[in-house]
Parts: sequence; structure tokens; C-alpha cells
Amino acid sequence: MVYATRRETFSAAHRLYNPKFTDEENARIFGKCSNPNWHGHNYTLEVVVAGEIDPETGYVLDLKELKGIIIEYVIKHVDHKNLNTETEFMKGLIPTAENITIAIWNQLVNKIPKGKLFSVKIFETENNYFEYKGE
Ligand code: NI
Repeated sequence: MVYATRRETFSAAHRLYNPKFTDEENARIFGKCSNPNWHGHNYTLEVVVAGEIDPETGYVLDLKELKGIIIEYVIKHVDHKNLNTETEFMKGLIPTAENITIAIWNQLVNKIPKGKLFSVKIFETENNYFEYKGE
């Protein structure tokens, strides 16, 4: 089994906010990420596909093809968007990096042409990242 990774980046705005809480409670729980006037992050996404090497090509899968799938089903929906208001697949979710990671997994899991989706990682800052492996 070989693990093939494609990295993409995107920039997006969000606000961490639970409407059940007051503005003060949201500010206490979510800190600067609860700014009512939004703010942005430069996110890095890593998508890992696990598979056997195809003896005809020597590839697990064609990474150009994987790139196209990530652009179509993820990047187009998040890059330079507001994750709270514009990204259909984030509807109803607090746009933490944790929730973004799972939502991206769900976008991609049935779209992988060869091998299978192994993990999705989202880096929200240089020091914080989250990984989801389907359970
Ligand atoms: Ni934030």
C-alpha cells in the first residue's frame, strides 16, 4: 500500500459562533475567531489516498486527476468565500477547522477514482492542524 498526498491551499473568511450563546459567551469560548465582522485564514489542505501501485502506470492514482477533483468539489466552494454564509457543504456547522476537515472528507470520499481516501488534514495556522480518517 502506498499513500499519495496532494496539497492545496485556500483563503476563506469565517466566524466561530453558536447562535444559542450570547455575543459575550461566544467571545469567551471562541476568542478572536468570534469577531462579528469576520476574519480570514490561509488554510492548507492535505488529501491522502491509499492504494496499490498500478503496474501499467507505476501510479497509485494520477495526482493531476486528484487535483482536479479537489478543486471541483472543495476549493471552488471555499476559496475566497465566507464559510458561514457561502459554502453549501458547511451549512449549519460551526466552521472550526475540525468541522471543515470532516465536511471536506464527506465531499471527497465517493469521488476518489482509484485507491481509497485515507485522510484529510486541515492546517488552520502553522501550529494547529486537524486530521480525519473517516471515523
Ligand atoms: Ni478563525
